[in-house]
Amino acid sequence: MPKATANLTDELAIHGGPKAKTTPYGTGSKYGPEEEREVIAALRQGTLFYAFGQKTKALCSRFSELYGLAHATATSSGTAAIHVALGCAGVGPGDEVIVTPITDMGSVIGILYQGAVPVFADMEPYTFAPDPESIAARITDRTRAIVVVHLAGNPAKMDRIMAIARERGVAVIEDCAQAWLTEYQGRKAGTFGAMGCFSLNEFKHISAGDGGLVGTNNPELARLAALWADKCYDRTSKVRDPWFLAPNYRMNELTAAVSLAQLEKAAAIVERRSVLGRKLTAGITGLPGVVPLEEQRGGRCSFWFYMFRIDPAAVGVGRDEFVAALKAEGVACEAGYIQDVVYKYRLFREKSAFPHSRWPFEDPRTGKVVEYPDGLCPTAEEIIRTCVWMPLNQWFTDRDVEEAAAGIAKVARHFAAAKGGRA
Ligand SMILES: Cc1ncc(COP(=O)(O)O)c(C=O)c1O
Repeated sequence: MPKATANLTDELAIHGGPKAKTTPYGTGSKYGPEEEREVIAALRQGTLFYAFGQKTKALCSRFSELYGLAHATATSSGTAAIHVALGCAGVGPGDEVIVTPITDMGSVIGILYQGAVPVFADMEPYTFAPDPESIAARITDRTRAIVVVHLAGNPAKMDRIMAIARERGVAVIEDCAQAWLTEYQGRKAGTFGAMGCFSLNEFKHISAGDGGLVGTNNPELARLAALWADKCYDRTSKVRDPWFLAPNYRMNELTAAVSLAQLEKAAAIVERRSVLGRKLTAGITGLPGVVPLEEQRGGRCSFWFYMFRIDPAAVGVGRDEFVAALKAEGVACEAGYIQDVVYKYRLFREKSAFPHSRWPFEDPRTGKVVEYPDGLCPTAEEIIRTCVWMPLNQWFTDRDVEEAAAGIAKVARHFAAAKGGRA
């Protein structure tokens, strides 16, 4: 694609000039006749219970096939999938689990429910992936697991992270909620760690409203996952004798039916998003004060969303002013992704995960409280301050991306020129 061009004298739309984005974004419907057929077939089974019907079984086997994994367990959400994986990894009270702080609460909820303490590792500045060396530095003798978040669909450096984890005897759980069919060194994200966790919530690459999957090659972990997702009831036996506390995280047959149809669409969806994401990167590379998303070297990003960063010193304005101008150009974007790094959420500030208790942040034996000070993960905090989030999906047209890139170029060049240095 030719580099987005904009005349330096272009009047910004926020100042009354013409908008860079002149056409409405492409849209589409994610559910169609394929999902309808599967749902009707599920209803006609006469049961919607996963253990009696065929849809959840078919989903697990199709997912396993797609990922080249031996086993899969379906869950009610991605959050549930991660909680199940943490349980299977033996995470319990007093343990520490390493995770990165720009993510959904779903990455940390299971850690807290297990009575373990989330320990936050820093991130790479432009891939937004976990920084392997920061992970290594935060491993202690209490670390039981690492939850590796493949944020925005950009893969983490799994070779390095697996080497660190192996050396230190720590389990790796991959959070692939945003990373359907993401690859690293020719291998799918979700197949490196002990378990890979996926989300089927309404907003993900593929969706069933809500739902999740946990994949593994380890038969013992798979056996545990089935128990973990279903109240520790062994559905293969008539004997009911739960031996640990497991929630009801079951998927139902309607959800599985929709998921099954969606799974067949995943490859095309991810392919299109990858093309658009790379096109956007090419279109905004080299602009003053704009740092595009850096696709992980040796990886294939599935672009659940697009995120770039502003260098306020180079562009001459702060991120929020930049975004206000970009929005006025008609470009869909937001200042920031999540409001703040996860450890600055109220739950962490006030240690209020559970009522009338500071558990698990306070160790009842020693009275020691885990703190999450400002500057704990400086790069992640800097990302939060300077990132611009943009939606990206398979219905966007090439023109949508070209106009968005032109809008970014127009705003960046305008502000940089106004600052004094010509772009
Ligand atoms: C990185 C990440 N992890 C976990 C989750 C949790 O998934 P779910 O919403 O299906 O519980 C999400 C969902 O937004 C996510 O983006």
